[in-house]
Amino acid sequence: MKDTIGFWGCGNMAKAMMQGLIDRGGHSPQKIYCISKSGASARAFARQSGVLALRNSSELIEKSGVLILAFKPFQLDDLRSELGRIEGVPVLSLLAGKSLQVLRSCCPKAKALIRTMPNTAGSIGKGATAYCGEGEIPAETRGTLLTILNPMGYTIEIDEKLMDVFTAVASSGVGFVFEFMAALKEAGEKEGLSADMALKLARQTVYGAASLAVESSAPPEALRDQVTSKGGTTQAGLEHLAAGGLRPLIHGAVKAAKARSERLKAEG
Ligand SMILES: NC(=O)c1ccc[n+]([C@@H]2O[C@H](COP(=O)([O-])OP(=O)(O)OC[C@H]3O[C@@H](n4cnc5c(N)ncnc54)[C@H](OP(=O)(O)O)[C@@H]3O)[C@@H](O)[C@H]2O)c1
Repeated sequence: MKDTIGFWGCGNMAKAMMQGLIDRGGHSPQKIYCISKSGASARAFARQSGVLALRNSSELIEKSGVLILAFKPFQLDDLRSELGRIEGVPVLSLLAGKSLQVLRSCCPKAKALIRTMPNTAGSIGKGATAYCGEGEIPAETRGTLLTILNPMGYTIEIDEKLMDVFTAVASSGVGFVFEFMAALKEAGEKEGLSADMALKLARQTVYGAASLAVESSAPPEALRDQVTSKGGTTQAGLEHLAAGGLRPLIHGAVKAAKARSERLKAEG
């Protein structure tokens, strides 16, 4: 099998992945290929990173040992006939909401099909990426897959039916945490901090808490209890959050995001 990786699309996610492969995955940029619709974004990224921009999908299919679909989900239908020419190589799809069944109908001769869902923190190697294949993923394909996904951070294989809840918790969840950070900053400002100081403190507080949670084996409730003394300041704030229904609110947000993911999938 060729040890080259071809990116079909050169937008935000593809560029983040290619940069991660070079910076953290030890991949030679010379073995990474990309194409884009206009060609301009692929050429610009190639100049900056050393990857090779190819002219068209025929060249990409011919030269790549594994193909990564990194265009927008709605573009899949227009690309059906080109995708149908892929033969004998694994295909990894980043297309949100596109099922393995739909992908297989577009790439009937692909060696293996893998559906993945990265989140934006993957661009700095701190993401959570879920993937699923059609049944047991062959060992060779899994090895290739992990060399591509691991530079983005934590990876986990899941059942395809869990993709919507994964999207809600891990992809939309990043947005929920940013909203919490913004609220903490706003509250700090209202209580007398300068805007700049409130922003710095909110960022560092979320960063520090998240880092502690990742490095510790303790569940978040235990870490919370470690900083909560009876009758103290944290307890006063936590009681306010509980009275305001923080947990049901978060549960509702995950439910809403999951339902939206299911609807988007149904709309195709
Ligand atoms: N961004 C995220 O945080 C995120 C998270 C999870 C999953 N995803 C998935 O990742 C995929 C890419 O998202 P993105 O945010 O990176 O999109 P994006 O920035 O809009 O990039 C899309 C890329 O696809 C290229 N393209 C479109 N039609 C093409 C064609 N016919 N042939 C070749 N290339 C074509 C575009 O070319 P031009 O540059 O010439 O326009 C562009 O480079 C999507 O399927 C999305 O669901 C993204």
